[in-house]
Amino acid sequence: MSDLKGDVYYPSQEVINHAHVPNWDELNDFAQNNYEEFWAKQAEELHWFQKWDKVIEDAEKPFYKWFVGGKTNIAYNCLDAHTKTYRRNKLALIWEGEDGEERTFSYFALYRETSKFANILKSLGVKKGDRVTIYMGRVPELIMAMLACARIGAIHSVIYGGFSVEALHERIDDSQSKVLITCDGAFQRGKIVPLKSIADEALQRAGAVEHVLVIKRTGQEVYMEQGRDMWYHELEKLPVAAPNCPIEEMDAEDPLFILYTSGTTGKPKAILHTHGGYMVGTYTTLKYVFDIHDDDRYWCAADPGWITGHSYIVYGPFLNGATSFMYEGAPNFPYPNRWWQMAERYGISILYTAPTAIRGLMRFGEAWVNRHDLSGLRLLGSVGEPINPEAWRWYHRVIGKEKCPIMDTWWQTETGMFMITPTPSLPLKPGSGTKPFFGLQMDILNEEGEPVGANEEGYLVIKNPWPAMMRTIYNDPERFVTQYWSKYPGLYMTGDSAKRDEDGYYWVIGRVDDVIKVSGYRLGTAEIESALVSHHDVAEAAAIGIPHEVRGNTIYAYVILKQGVEKSPELVELLKAHVGHEMGPIGKPEKIEFVDALPKTRSGKIMRRVLKAQALGQDPGNLSTLEE
Ligand code: WTA
Repeated sequence: MSDLKGDVYYPSQEVINHAHVPNWDELNDFAQNNYEEFWAKQAEELHWFQKWDKVIEDAEKPFYKWFVGGKTNIAYNCLDAHTKTYRRNKLALIWEGEDGEERTFSYFALYRETSKFANILKSLGVKKGDRVTIYMGRVPELIMAMLACARIGAIHSVIYGGFSVEALHERIDDSQSKVLITCDGAFQRGKIVPLKSIADEALQRAGAVEHVLVIKRTGQEVYMEQGRDMWYHELEKLPVAAPNCPIEEMDAEDPLFILYTSGTTGKPKAILHTHGGYMVGTYTTLKYVFDIHDDDRYWCAADPGWITGHSYIVYGPFLNGATSFMYEGAPNFPYPNRWWQMAERYGISILYTAPTAIRGLMRFGEAWVNRHDLSGLRLLGSVGEPINPEAWRWYHRVIGKEKCPIMDTWWQTETGMFMITPTPSLPLKPGSGTKPFFGLQMDILNEEGEPVGANEEGYLVIKNPWPAMMRTIYNDPERFVTQYWSKYPGLYMTGDSAKRDEDGYYWVIGRVDDVIKVSGYRLGTAEIESALVSHHDVAEAAAIGIPHEVRGNTIYAYVILKQGVEKSPELVELLKAHVGHEMGPIGKPEKIEFVDALPKTRSGKIMRRVLKAQALGQDPGNLSTLEE
């Protein structure tokens, strides 16, 4: 039992004894003083075809390189390496469909399936360095597709299955992918999301896609374009799909994937991660933070289409040889106990999810949870936004039975790995991610770049490089420098504001830019606005995030209609549906208000904070830069 002292939760001796790192200070001191050695030791636990010459290369800051000269392949370390050990027949993946279907794969089986997939991709002409877009539901083939790309050195670009036509088109176009992998459809809350027909519409708008590989999941009729579209289950039967495929030896700095995310302004950016550093970073953080052991059943309930899924459903767990569980559907389908039923059935020992999911399930009450034996749980995790103390305590008491420490992990698509996070041996404070991971140096600065005092709010920055750091924005290195490294030259700007208390614990407050977190999903005001403006009745639009009890934030939009267009409640609904069709349901504004003008600066920038203050009935503050 953990000891409950005021607002600090001390881990039990049992938790500390079990942990890979029983003494946090000791390892942190070592990592702070021997940073390169700390990371080199971690890297040595993985397989390299050729060892690196240098751990960190900083000659061209901020374009850092890690494990320079090293040759490896992350897919080799995720699969092949385990097939040569006692883990060969250990379960790598347990999957449950929303309809109750169950599939399991041992490490050897996943290796074979992935090899088949890789051979099929090769037969379609995919080569090292080519981009492959993956747009699927949460099915095992999504994981195989990612690992197959990695295996042959292709760069995967996974687009979240909840995105829609324009979001998909824009990302395919930017990456210039030759191959798109999708499903006929995806099950979600008992309905079918028509992934293939959304993809067809996106492809009509452009892109360099030559082949579409379709996985059958829902079985509904779909259009197949001759010469372009192919069924995976048909190709799988051909001799070309042999269950072994030579691994491509990759340079540590070769790209592994790009993942689009919303930034301060404009279009989503393609964040680029590499084989070497990303591999070492995700391996090490998952091992230490979630204290992964061979007998664990680990469940990260995110979607592989976001960074949490990339790092901690796919790469981190397989690098650690863990048994990972993935569920296809909605948490409360058909009943609010679905998650707890599965946690019990599969004996989940580690559960990693987002505050929004916890708040959503909290609403249904404890009785749904208490019908299930969750005694197998020993560690819990949280990610995506600050966790409010009420949700933290519920998670701790009702799900974790007061014995499971909660790892509140702060990180980003750009960081690739956990950055501010406890490990199980650290005392916890609800709502704080505790301290920077071993060896990391972070700070909180004011506008002038000076560190702020204890409990004062400022900009969160990172001061030293880390292995899983993004290397660049694909096709836009300049924007990488201006967006992340220019506010305070030499320091990485996170885009978040935070405070640090007298114990050195960090409290992340939220974004200081135009990024909105809706149900943990990262959206940009610019994307929502451009979806609105793409409707023929709309002249101009502004989107803002408004605090929401369950979702964290919800979207309000302000729209100026074109001359002569009649305002009506029907048009509001139409515009909402239009955003849903273009961007996906997660981008749909909860409220749309028609206005005659938007508050702008003299240089024409929309002042979203003024709209937000108004919507919340607050004082808009300094308006001296307002145009009128
Ligand atoms: C927010 C998700 C508070 C933060 C892994 C960050 C958090 C953004 C936490 C990145 C947390 C993520 N506590 N805030 N534990 N985790 N955030 O790229 O604002 O989807 O900048 O990566 O989520 O979102 P992204």
